[in-house]
Amino acid sequence: MVLIDDIYAIEVMDSRGNPTVQATVVLNDGSEGVAICPSGASTGKREAVELRDGDKRYAGKGVLSAVDNINNIIAPLLDGHNPFNQIYIDRLLQKEDGSENYSNLGANASLAVSMAVARASANSLGVPLYRYLGGANAMTMPVGMFNIINGGEHANNSVDFQEYMIIPTNFETFALSLRAVSEIYNELKKIIDGMGMTTAVGDEGGFAPNLKSNEEPLELITKAIVDAGYEPGKDIFLALDVAASELVDDDGKYLLKSENKTLSSAELVEYYKNLCDKYPIVSIEDGLGEDDWDGWSYLTEQLGDKVQLVGDDLFVTNTKILQQGIDKSIANSILIKPNQIGDLSQTMATVRLAQRSGYRCVMSHRSGESEDTFIADFAVALNCGQIKTGSTARSDRIAKYNRLLNIEHEIGYSEYTQNMVYER
Ligand code: PGA
Ligand code: ZN
Repeated sequence: MVLIDDIYAIEVMDSRGNPTVQATVVLNDGSEGVAICPSGASTGKREAVELRDGDKRYAGKGVLSAVDNINNIIAPLLDGHNPFNQIYIDRLLQKEDGSENYSNLGANASLAVSMAVARASANSLGVPLYRYLGGANAMTMPVGMFNIINGGEHANNSVDFQEYMIIPTNFETFALSLRAVSEIYNELKKIIDGMGMTTAVGDEGGFAPNLKSNEEPLELITKAIVDAGYEPGKDIFLALDVAASELVDDDGKYLLKSENKTLSSAELVEYYKNLCDKYPIVSIEDGLGEDDWDGWSYLTEQLGDKVQLVGDDLFVTNTKILQQGIDKSIANSILIKPNQIGDLSQTMATVRLAQRSGYRCVMSHRSGESEDTFIADFAVALNCGQIKTGSTARSDRIAKYNRLLNIEHEIGYSEYTQNMVYER
């Protein structure tokens, strides 16, 4: 019988140059699985706890305590257990931790191990990770949401909104959609360069110029789409991640520094409605703050039948919080970030709840990433239909897109692999 033989962890680097946790799981048939945990910057308050050492090393950001938890607590706990029983493995982790949010072991410890167990199991069976996690039913290539202008907490420019994304919808394959995005990205670079502004990029590989409003990025991106020979609103749609929890001031209002404006929830909703009238925006993530549930009700009422409203900081990949949102008819979609909840089984439970409640799922990276491509396989395994993992630049983002190209090559193109989220 195949059993877990050894588990160990080390501290490695993420894409921002901060330490993060890498776990290795070895099975008694010699198979191995390695996984690296990502890390967010604009984190939701109710996310599972990322353990940081808080000492002198790396300005407090060391993760040796999480590494120690894997080596000294999790390794003996899981030793000799069946790696194919993911839910049982994850339950052991939850039970050992004893809290609701992995505040003892650290979600960076639990998730790294949870992912490495799945990888080792796939390797042991000799099947790709998406096939192991999703079975024969894993077949949908996700549509990408590509973040090509960065602002907010992910860049030091003047733009308040965190992410300006393009969604290529009118393409038969993921490969063709990626080509379109790359062409648009490079046109955008020319436009920004031509304006005499920096083409340096933010944390997720999108450009981060200083612009005079939160609307200007939409103008520039629309021009780039046209310059690249595509049609906005037909081939390519637009999406925002406002990450509005980061904009809330002491009075609970939303501060748009670049425009010198302070808006109420209702005024910000009006602002979005105006943008949606002018541009082909089909998705807005975290349009209001994580505590502004009344505002979210209003937002959903006003825009929910036209626009995908994605809860990220709002739902933090948590079944209980998502259920509250479903009960209150708040948002209509959820961002899926495994490290917000701390293990694979709970992530999968949240995806199942969303899917059976008619909420769309977007698999997502974090702004602090690595070469680990787990989420690419995970998106296909769960038939999520959408993935958000940065621009078409920087290896930490490209690694996921390249993995998706390989998956598409493997599963082949057919009507079943096409994503049906957006109308063609
Ligand atoms: P984060 O950003 O990883 O910094 O939280 C990503 C997002 O908000 O979607
Ligand atoms: Zn977000």
